Amino acid sequence: MTSRRIGLIGCGDVSVVHVEAIHDIEGLELVGVADTDPQALARAVELTGVPGFASTQELIDGVHPEAVHVTTPHHEHIDPSLTALAAGVHVLQEKPIAHTLDEGQRLVDALESAPGAAKVGICFQNRYNLASQRLHDLLASGALGAVRGAWASVVWTRSADYYRAKPWRGTWEGSGGGLLINQAIHTLDLVQWLLGGVERTDGHVATRRFADVIEVEDTAELLLHHPGGVTTSFYATLTAPQHRPVEIELDCEKAYVSLRGGTEGGLTIRWADGRVDTVGERSVTSGGRSYWGVSHELLIRDFYERLEEPEPFWIGPREAMASMEILTEAYRLSGVGPGA
Ligand SMILES: NC(=O)c1ccc[n+]([C@@H]2O[C@H](COP(=O)([O-])OP(=O)(O)OC[C@H]3O[C@@H](n4cnc5c(N)ncnc54)[C@H](O)[C@@H]3O)[C@@H](O)[C@H]2O)c1
Repeated sequence: MTSRRIGLIGCGDVSVVHVEAIHDIEGLELVGVADTDPQALARAVELTGVPGFASTQELIDGVHPEAVHVTTPHHEHIDPSLTALAAGVHVLQEKPIAHTLDEGQRLVDALESAPGAAKVGICFQNRYNLASQRLHDLLASGALGAVRGAWASVVWTRSADYYRAKPWRGTWEGSGGGLLINQAIHTLDLVQWLLGGVERTDGHVATRRFADVIEVEDTAELLLHHPGGVTTSFYATLTAPQHRPVEIELDCEKAYVSLRGGTEGGLTIRWADGRVDTVGERSVTSGGRSYWGVSHELLIRDFYERLEEPEPFWIGPREAMASMEILTEAYRLSGVGPGA
């Protein structure tokens, strides 16, 4: 069997997880890397042993990949992805879809105006966590009864050096936001996926600790309104002294369900009749950081396994717009961000 030829665009922190997954998944071969920063590119060429290029187009022309992984900063997602799509090359792109809703819409439109040409997947890998999938199945089956309300939190830590090391992370222009678009977006995505979308967002964002180094928010409190009158109370911050596990809790007619993220995480279902069921999470097998979740490789594997199917990949650009819409509304309500 010939291997699928894969290119990687953007050779920073998260690219390592993609390189490892491409290496570990049978039938995939990394054939080229691209970065606009010559030093990052040189490091990646040395690490991977494949040719390096200064742009997406040069990589495509030079090594003719079947797919590229786009692991660039948020404001550099859409152009590389559109360049690949225009060449008929499949795209697996990191979250968020883009740094603004309008930019994200360009990718949605490009894909929908040329259906069937190439596929696009967006890395919301936490949908592949065992606990997330089990909870989704339980909700879909009706076993939990009606959901009465939900709570979710992302209480993590960051340092000023995290932003100083990669300044795009702290700017509206580069990142399109802070905590919500970069870290908590995974949990926003999970909550909206589990509870049938978000019809309205109330809330506020603030910069509580890092105002001297970043423009964007490091803390948020939201109330998400789902169909049927269900709400999620959502709190997120990067000001904690240590990472706490991500929490999603659902108060349902027949059980109270607690999902915990990270390698120690899982699902606990406390049934109304007193039974307690638990589902443990997988442990991290790659060099990825535990708070990134444990499922990058699963998503990447699934993307390639489904490549020949006629349907679009299930976590594509339109799906990725849902979390973008929530956080964009939170920024608008707080009077910050591109629309302020
Ligand atoms: N799914 C997850 O859990 C997860 C985890 C971490 C990061 N991410 C996402 O991955 C992306 C990258 O984050 P990071 O922390 O690795 O960033 P980073 O700054 O460490 O790396 C980005 C790299 O892209 C390069 N680059 C910029 N513009 C480019 C262009 N047009 N073409 C080619 N290369 C370009 C930069 O020079 C840099 O080397 C972000 O979207 C981030 O949100 C996702």
